[in-house]
Amino acid sequence: MSNKGFTLWFTGLSGSGKSTLAQYLTPILIERGVAVEVLDGDEVRENLSKGLGFSKEDRDTNIRRIGYVANLLSRNGVCSITAAISPYRELRREIRDLTETFVEVYVEAPLSVVEERDTKGLYKKARSGEIKQFTGISDPYHEPENAEVTVHTGDQSIEESAQAVLDYLAGKGLIST
Ligand code: ADX
Repeated sequence: MSNKGFTLWFTGLSGSGKSTLAQYLTPILIERGVAVEVLDGDEVRENLSKGLGFSKEDRDTNIRRIGYVANLLSRNGVCSITAAISPYRELRREIRDLTETFVEVYVEAPLSVVEERDTKGLYKKARSGEIKQFTGISDPYHEPENAEVTVHTGDQSIEESAQAVLDYLAGKGLIST
């Protein structure tokens, strides 16, 4: 089996299921002999990107840092899974261009669905104005136009979403079938 590294770049609204899918996929990939590291947006903001806010400039810095680390890992045979909103298309493009094997996964769910879920209670605060520049409410989210994989967490089960990612990776020979 190939031990070529790759970057699974998840993008999607807050609450769309990026972290959940990353955590779900991790043991499955490990089971198949893949070394995995997850770079989760919330966690990165606690250490690597501590102190950054949510202006475009700070988000871009955050994404560049995540992209840099993901690339270091993936070029050394690791599967890096990133789970940050990464709302700006041109930044995702920039990271794609500097990453050897970049697999963009659009973790899609309609705003109505993520707002209804409101797992962290942040959409409510964004609507009331307590949180400013909130992605999808008062800040942009650029939908991917050429993602390698799109999963719809509003109407697919997590098993189905994970399978779509695994099928893509197997089809490209990045993991064994
Ligand atoms: S990114 O835009 O730089 O990619 P990142 O994924 O790291 O964002 O962080 C997003 C998480 O920060 C959200 O899931 C949410 O928990 C929290 N958050 C706090 N303020 C905001 C905001 N203004 N916009 C989006 N997410 C926010």
